[in-house]
Amino acid sequence: MRSTMTGTVQVIECPDSMRELVRAAQSNGRRVGLVPTMGALHEGHLSLVRASTTECDVTAVTIFVNPSQFGANEDLDQYPRSLENDLAALESLAVEWVFAPQTAQMYGPGFSTWISPPEIAATLEGESRPGHFRGVCTIVLKLFQILPADIVYFGQKDYQQSQVIRAMARDLDLPIEVSVQPTVRESDGLALSSRNQYLNGADRQRALGLSRALQAAAAAVADGERSPQAVEQLMLSELRNAGVDEVEYAAVADAQTLAPVQNIDRPCVALIAARVGQTRLIDNRLFE
Ligand code: PAJ
Repeated sequence: MRSTMTGTVQVIECPDSMRELVRAAQSNGRRVGLVPTMGALHEGHLSLVRASTTECDVTAVTIFVNPSQFGANEDLDQYPRSLENDLAALESLAVEWVFAPQTAQMYGPGFSTWISPPEIAATLEGESRPGHFRGVCTIVLKLFQILPADIVYFGQKDYQQSQVIRAMARDLDLPIEVSVQPTVRESDGLALSSRNQYLNGADRQRALGLSRALQAAAAAVADGERSPQAVEQLMLSELRNAGVDEVEYAAVADAQTLAPVQNIDRPCVALIAARVGQTRLIDNRLFE
């Protein structure tokens, strides 16, 4: 077992030790909050941590770049890793525990049990990234077993992921509350993402196309537009104007089920995935 104290943060690698700490805290009547991450922490992640430290007695952050949710031609090897900076940021927020296992501890020899994701995982990211949600559901369920927390925090930035986890928690009777927190953005609208580090100057500018397209979509809906096709076309033209031409999807969907809608006459969400240079970005916006 490796368990080290960096200032006030305790870094735990061993699943059994982690579980014992969570259970001991709960048996003392303490409410435990969990924030799963892949590290390279930014203000988006830290907003989830702040929600947890505000609402819970103890907060555990997990840092694990989960190989099984990356496709063969995706950025697993380049994915940014910055454990020392992450720990310093978490220490300043008075986080008690960081669970940072080695890959071999999460996927040991003979590992072969996988979660089949809920139906809501089939479209959008599920279509663009085959196998992605299978990897996400499996690792998240494992983390829930290792850290049987009272409440888990996810970001709206990954809207479909948060809905997939909600569906899994409902379908499998997981004894955990799922809290989804608003997307944190740069002042110009770009949604914070660990992958923004990949963007060079011109691509950083082009990347604004996503939030601008979503903003234009929301404005059109607020002005009475009810046709999902019209809103999708509007998003595509905003993306094109911003120089984003590799769009994987720009869709309007039912906010609950992510199914296509005939008419924007219920809570809906607009979602975009696009490649800007080499970088794949996603963003979304709910229509009230
Ligand atoms: P990661 O991309 O590190 O994100 C961890 C959490 O931070 C997710 O819930 C994500 O939605 C949230 N987040 C990211 N950017 C955000 C922003 N700008 N505003 C608010 N929240 C934001 O998502 C994952 O890791 C992984 O799939 C994981 C769930 C950890 C499973 O491996």
